[in-house]
Amino acid sequence: MAANETEAKLFTFRIKRYGTGGKEKEHYFQEYKLEVMKGQSVLDCLNELRWKQDGTLTFRRSCKSGICGSCAMTINGVNRLACETQVMALGGSVVTVEPLKGYPVIKDLVVDIDPMVEKLLAVKPYLITKTPPPSDQERYQSQADRAKLDGLYECILCGACTSSCPSYWADEKYLGPHAFLKAYRFIADSRDEGAREHFEALDDKHGLWRCHTIFNCVEACPKSLNPTKAIAALKRELTKSRIG
Ligand code: F3S
Repeated sequence: MAANETEAKLFTFRIKRYGTGGKEKEHYFQEYKLEVMKGQSVLDCLNELRWKQDGTLTFRRSCKSGICGSCAMTINGVNRLACETQVMALGGSVVTVEPLKGYPVIKDLVVDIDPMVEKLLAVKPYLITKTPPPSDQERYQSQADRAKLDGLYECILCGACTSSCPSYWADEKYLGPHAFLKAYRFIADSRDEGAREHFEALDDKHGLWRCHTIFNCVEACPKSLNPTKAIAALKRELTKSRIG
């Protein structure tokens, strides 16, 4: 291994805490020092802090591969996945970690995602069919139609987009870009026959029309998806269906 790959650098982690340390109702920052090696992610460091320095430090994580969305948090002011964020790449020597904005905090970095899931379910995020399937094969989809789902199906529902959206900060009933992107994933699916059902929750004052095209959701998405583009397409489809 090259020498510079083994070199460690001392970092200060400023972690926003809640529900611990005798300050059960207060949000406060706690600092930890940690020697970080090149290649270590923020999640690696949080694990190390929890295992070796402070067993009360609480955060969500699961796959450690950028697939489950569990470790979405705000790192140096930006919503990111802790498992995909290299500490050395952040620059400086202080890493500030906070829970995702806009969701109720349960403990330290763990937020309550129930409201996010409820809004997701409101758009019926599944394939709706009304005609019977062909008797001898699965529902056919051409390669061209399948390609229309690229940029939509990859959403891991981490909640980073909705957490960054000013329309959501102003209206906690706003469905949010995570729900819109998922709704469009099914409305754009050539096999889906339930546009009306998906649109029910979207065509509402807390739905699509409250999006003011602010684009924060695009910047926040750790998978480089584009909820704003999906929202524009949904508005077009909804308008067409109203005229139709
Ligand atoms: Fe919010 Fe994204 Fe619209 S940030 S206002 S959902 S473009």
